[in-house]
Amino acid sequence: MNDNKFVEVKNLKKVYDNGHQAIKNVSFHVKKGDLVCLLGPSGCGKTTILNILAGLLNPTSGDILFDGKSVVNTASKDRQIGYVFQNYALYPHMTVLQNVMFPLTVGKQKMPKDKAKEIAEKYMELTQISDFANQKPGQLSGGQQQRVAIARALVQEPKILLMDEPLSNLDARLRLKIREEIRSLVKEVGITTLFVTHDQEEALSIGDKIILFNEGVIQQDDLGQNFYLEPNNYFVANFVGNPVIDNFKVKMQDGKLIGSDFELNVNDLQQARFKRQLTDGDYILSVRPENILPSDDGNVSAHIDDVELIGRERILKFTHDGVQARSLVDLETPIKAGDDIKLEMRLDRVFIFTPEGERVY
Ligand SMILES: Nc1ncnc2c1ncn2[C@@H]1O[C@H](COP(=O)(O)OP(=O)(O)O)[C@@H](O)[C@H]1O
Ligand SMILES: [Mg+2]
Repeated sequence: MNDNKFVEVKNLKKVYDNGHQAIKNVSFHVKKGDLVCLLGPSGCGKTTILNILAGLLNPTSGDILFDGKSVVNTASKDRQIGYVFQNYALYPHMTVLQNVMFPLTVGKQKMPKDKAKEIAEKYMELTQISDFANQKPGQLSGGQQQRVAIARALVQEPKILLMDEPLSNLDARLRLKIREEIRSLVKEVGITTLFVTHDQEEALSIGDKIILFNEGVIQQDDLGQNFYLEPNNYFVANFVGNPVIDNFKVKMQDGKLIGSDFELNVNDLQQARFKRQLTDGDYILSVRPENILPSDDGNVSAHIDDVELIGRERILKFTHDGVQARSLVDLETPIKAGDDIKLEMRLDRVFIFTPEGERVY
């Protein structure tokens, strides 16, 4: 057995009956005990992948291995998977205890009531819902219902836990709290977990690694920090980051990258960061707001249109090259709307993409 490939997905494809290609040749693996986030915009195929892993949906082609064994022909109930659905799918007529016990009281692994109750109580304790044992789901808050769904998914002690946007129905504050709780819970239980979300911040905060999808294709499968520092392509650079990255149109000519009122000498860039040599033509120069900062001898001139406070930092908004761009500064920086300033880009932190989105620097 290979713990590094506890879950392995190979060349997975899914074409729905209407011809829609939801998953296009996806391969990835998950290490035993890891919490991996499947991240991507709505419609990119996240739920489709979870449903295929759970055996609720057949793939069009490709293979899935759990602990080294192919499970594509294994029935859903025999895959030893716990699934927390996006809408929780609790049984409204049952109490919390009955909901959590339910998987232990049906099917092949059916066990005596008192044994089931004992195990259910252990997981209710872990998820902090013991106090609500005799209430019905309708009497609970969203966060409490969420915990019931998690306890019910864990009670059969599955090998793998799947969670589909488990925090999307909760308000912002609760989301932050529960995501930390989910991480510590799955680490305590030691269960290998695939956690689906469309929220990059959520993924970055709890994932041991993140797999970012767009239109059924993996864009990057990596540690969180690499999505910032080394994005694979234009999509990744623009999907990750808050505030989002700013993009300037530039032209490569005579060894210079020329923007509307700035120029960068290609020799001033870090040669080792080039993925390939630049030919003359159009490119996109992308820089995160934290990497373009006020400086008296900066190479970009900017007129500050507006200043926005975001907690412990401020965003200077300026128009450059016809795009609204931003510089992220601390609260003490004495710059206000209406000022004309110079900005300096950190050349070791900018990215250059082709118009098709290929990263070249
Ligand atoms: N049963 C279906 N038949 C046809 N297309 C579907 C079906 N289910 C989902 N899709 C489409 O497949 C794509 C991926 O869906 P889904 O996996 O639900 O995305 P996500 O969970 O990332 O939002 C979407 O474009 C969606 O409209
Ligand atoms: Mg979904």
